[in-house]
Amino acid sequence: MPNTLDQFDIRPIEPNDKEGLQEGLTLLSNESRRQRFFSSRKEFTENELKFFTEVDQVNHIALVAVNKSPGPSPAGSVRCIRDTHPGREHFAELAITIIDSFQGMGLGFVLMDLLAQAALKQNITHFYGDFHTSNRKMLKLLEKYCVKYHIPPQSFLLNRKSDGFLYFEMPLS
Ligand SMILES: CC(C)(COP(=O)(O)OP(=O)(O)OC[C@H]1O[C@@H](n2cnc3c(N)ncnc32)[C@H](O)[C@@H]1OP(=O)(O)O)[C@@H](O)C(=O)NCCC(=O)NCCS
Repeated sequence: MPNTLDQFDIRPIEPNDKEGLQEGLTLLSNESRRQRFFSSRKEFTENELKFFTEVDQVNHIALVAVNKSPGPSPAGSVRCIRDTHPGREHFAELAITIIDSFQGMGLGFVLMDLLAQAALKQNITHFYGDFHTSNRKMLKLLEKYCVKYHIPPQSFLLNRKSDGFLYFEMPLS
């Protein structure tokens, strides 16, 4: 049986993905846009597009998923950015976005899994980040990763912050 994820081309992000990223933002629902960017913004600036797409894949690792058919269209992206604080060099902040029409197909999990494998090769051993307490999908995604890689619950840090967000930290293996 064909894997439904075969419809996606998953690869490291490239400088010429700027247009796809900009288009992807317009395809997100307001809810997803808020969950990812904590605002309802509808356009990236030139500087942001440069930052998001011209990455070194060492301290800033990013992957994109492109829907291959009927014609190439953005489906999602995932990135992690290494913490520059002394003693935190093995930690990277995770951010992930799947366009609504492709959510719930397993694409987010595959992207996060591939990103984690790429991150480990660059000596990044932990992901961290914030997400809103209402974002059950993100929590489930992280829990699913922990189950797959047998991350013990005590190693998965989840703190409720005063602003309605959850802060997480987790080892990748
Ligand atoms: C969070 C997000 C990345 C998940 O990606 P996804 O491709 O939809 O997730 P997957 O299909 O890989 O599902 C992974 C797990 O999430 C959970 N999940 C997925 N869709 C769900 C839904 N609609 N309701 C509840 N849980 C859900 C499931 O546990 C699922 O695992 P399972 O299918 O084995 O049960 C995606 O919803 C998204 O981009 N949301 C908007 C942006 C965002 O919130 N980013 C996170 C903050 S940076």
